[in-house]
Amino acid sequence: MNIDFSSLAAKYGTPLYVYDFDYIKNRYLELKEAFSGQKNIINYAIKANSNLSVISLLAEQGAGADCVSIGEVKRAILSGVSKYKIIFSGVGKSDDEIKEALNLDILLINLESEDEMKRVESVAKELGKIARISIRVNPNIDAKTHPYISTGLHDDKFGVEIDMAKRMYIYAKKSSFLNPVGIHFHIGSQLTELEPISEACSIVADLAHTLKALEIDIKFFDVGGGLGVVYDDELTINIQEYADMIKNATKKLDVTILCEPGRYMVANGGYFLTKVLYEKKNNKKRFIIVDGAMNDLIRPSLYDAYHKIEAIGKNGENSIADVVGPICESGDFFGKNVSLPQLEHNDLLIVKSAGAYGFSMSSNYNTRGRAAEVAVQDGIDRIIRKREVFEDMIALEKEFLV
Ligand code: LLP
Repeated sequence: MNIDFSSLAAKYGTPLYVYDFDYIKNRYLELKEAFSGQKNIINYAIKANSNLSVISLLAEQGAGADCVSIGEVKRAILSGVSKYKIIFSGVGKSDDEIKEALNLDILLINLESEDEMKRVESVAKELGKIARISIRVNPNIDAKTHPYISTGLHDDKFGVEIDMAKRMYIYAKKSSFLNPVGIHFHIGSQLTELEPISEACSIVADLAHTLKALEIDIKFFDVGGGLGVVYDDELTINIQEYADMIKNATKKLDVTILCEPGRYMVANGGYFLTKVLYEKKNNKKRFIIVDGAMNDLIRPSLYDAYHKIEAIGKNGENSIADVVGPICESGDFFGKNVSLPQLEHNDLLIVKSAGAYGFSMSSNYNTRGRAAEVAVQDGIDRIIRKREVFEDMIALEKEFLV
């Protein structure tokens, strides 16, 4: 990585997201390589970063997409992902979304409840189609991650229990409008231990064996996403060990492995650039007030997530400060007790590991336009999303002003 952040900030302004496309591409290729020897599709979880150019970069390499709304499905198709590599998951799909997904003829609709299965069946019947489905199994395993992003326990709203899954498969097999070809689990995000994934994988593989014995032909074995990344000094999962564990658990099943990484692919390929507006000290604390805010990158506010923050081109003695945004909430911060040199108006800070769940979770809170996004590939930078301006933010309201 050799990105001249100061030039990019000068050229495009701040706050700004910058993505290292070479890094993102390599992450995909490395994971793909780890699964070699086994049929597989890497279904990039586009919620992590749904910029069309990011999806397109991965689609060009052959990636599929894991989507959680029809909007994401359409983004994937528009970006060049093959429809036969698209999965549509999520606990609450509307009838309209189901209809569109069936009409688009994507690879799989991933079911999360019995009720939903019946909805999909009746919509498929209405359309005269057969829905290819998978079922998300909740294996009741503690993924050992932040409670907001843990999804594999019976306390969580996701998936169905093993027995229910079995009943659903038996029902679907008999239905003229459902074709149960996939099985799925996803126990959480930012996972740094292999053990819980491995446990979940073997529980779900056992179920797949049982289903095969019932002549329910599972062709796709979806291991979800969740691979953790380094934000600070975490020890993360070795992807070869991860892939080998999955290959091993599924070796007698003759299935295509589907894997849905989001964060793994993009987190550390993304940088959030923000400029210093002011420094402020009281008798207790030093605050660095920057032009970016929680509407741009909400992870620190929402999960107390750690992101490394560095000052560009500054030396001098460091002292501790909170890096905060202009929003009217005390939760509007990027980092607490960060060690930084003395800073001045217009000095540049970089918030690292911002490629996943950064821009995609941003909002217009406080009527702040979303940041611009820039890609750097082979040493060349280009804008991939314009900075939002005031007119963009009021476009859907203006005509109703009386
Ligand atoms: N598959 C399913 C079914 C998911 O629910 C998720 C993430 C993924 C794949 C991708 O997970 P990943 O590989 O990125 O860990 N906003 C939170 C993360 C929420 C994750 C939601 N589901 C954050 O900023 O940490």
